[in-house]
Amino acid sequence: MNMFANSSVASKVQPAPHAGSNTVPAPRKTLVATLRLLEPTVAPRLALDLGCGSGPDTLELLSHNWDVVALDANPEALATLLTQTPAHQMAQLTTRLMDFAELQAASLPEFDLVNASFSIPYCLPRHFHPFWAEVRQLIRRRGWFCGHFFGLRDDASQQPDMMLHSLADIYDLFTGFELEMLSGVEKDKVQPDGSVKHSHVVSVIARKC
Ligand SMILES: C[S@@+](CC[C@H](N)C(=O)[O-])C[C@H]1O[C@@H](n2cnc3c(N)ncnc32)[C@H](O)[C@@H]1O
Repeated sequence: MNMFANSSVASKVQPAPHAGSNTVPAPRKTLVATLRLLEPTVAPRLALDLGCGSGPDTLELLSHNWDVVALDANPEALATLLTQTPAHQMAQLTTRLMDFAELQAASLPEFDLVNASFSIPYCLPRHFHPFWAEVRQLIRRRGWFCGHFFGLRDDASQQPDMMLHSLADIYDLFTGFELEMLSGVEKDKVQPDGSVKHSHVVSVIARKC
């Protein structure tokens, strides 16, 4: 089932990595680690992939027999995901072309897992609090969150409208959750143009109480 909803909210969505290409990168380590933590079950499970991009994590979830709602504001990213999805897994996938700011109005069901790999920092700060309140609501009791935040020392702090978080902020966001993993990594990476980019990424796996 594929549902495309048009987004009416202004956003600063950047090109998703690999959108439009025929290759999708490996699933993110936080998702792989989360799938290892989950108890085996034969019951169908439902995940929301927020800012799915070209779909590395969505494809991994589908291959583990999850039903997935893959949400992104970039139509090219969703088109790439759809071309990469094996025909026999199409029925497990719903795509939503939507900005994070529209999440509250989207009438989504509760999820066993909300995954947000490298996407939350792109939520416009003025939309973040209602967006996050909705993310918390959408995770069912004893359901999971996994994903990434940018810490305050990331170079993204020099760009307008990026959503960065201190460690204290992140602990606050997960009030009412058990933190299964919280790990911060900072590194300098040389860019193709020779400049150096400092990244500060905080990875989180959490379970709703
Ligand atoms: C860095 S990419 C990560 C993609 C994918 N999760 C991955 O790990 O490869 C960030 C994704 O978030 C999406 N995104 C950014 N801002 C958004 C917003 N406000 N609403 C919905 N999607 C957004 C982008 O279109 C992009 O696909």
